[in-house]
Amino acid sequence: MRIENKSITIDYQVVESVDHLDEARFELINAAKTASKLAYAPYSNFYVGAAARLDNGVITIASNKENASFPAGICAERNLVNYISDHHQGQVINSIAVIADPQDFKLNEPVSPCGICRQVLSEVERLQKSKIEIILSGQTGKVLIFSSAASLLPFEFYLSQLKK
Ligand code: THU
Repeated sequence: MRIENKSITIDYQVVESVDHLDEARFELINAAKTASKLAYAPYSNFYVGAAARLDNGVITIASNKENASFPAGICAERNLVNYISDHHQGQVINSIAVIADPQDFKLNEPVSPCGICRQVLSEVERLQKSKIEIILSGQTGKVLIFSSAASLLPFEFYLSQLKK
């Protein structure tokens, strides 16, 4: 049997800090920070805020919401795209900024979206046929910028694999 070695490269940008972002991305990160203050996260104390810039220029925000039944909680990213789906129907999402603001310790690195959120963001991106830029930040430190949600999830599971 022949074996081929392959590899995948993920392109992204590293920005020294939020202060080095351009005005539009800085505005979106700040909106995400505002959203993080709305988090309901009494179990983890890990507050997360997300903000999306829509094609019509509107910025919309959401935060993580936990529950005493832990799996019932929802991350900020999924809360955000679900809200947009219902309240901004048909609007294309251009970019999403996510910031974590843990209450019990200092976070000097960008938050890393969970696998379920990556899967959901990828499907939203496929549906809208337009890339969603993802901007990730912690309380301080470097900011990462990915030009698409798909770049965060190689080998995602998608609709045409499910239904033929
Ligand atoms: N969380 C998010 O909301 N987004 C992320 O990208 C990472 C994790 C939330 C889920 C849970 O409420 C808390 O952070 C700890 O996992």
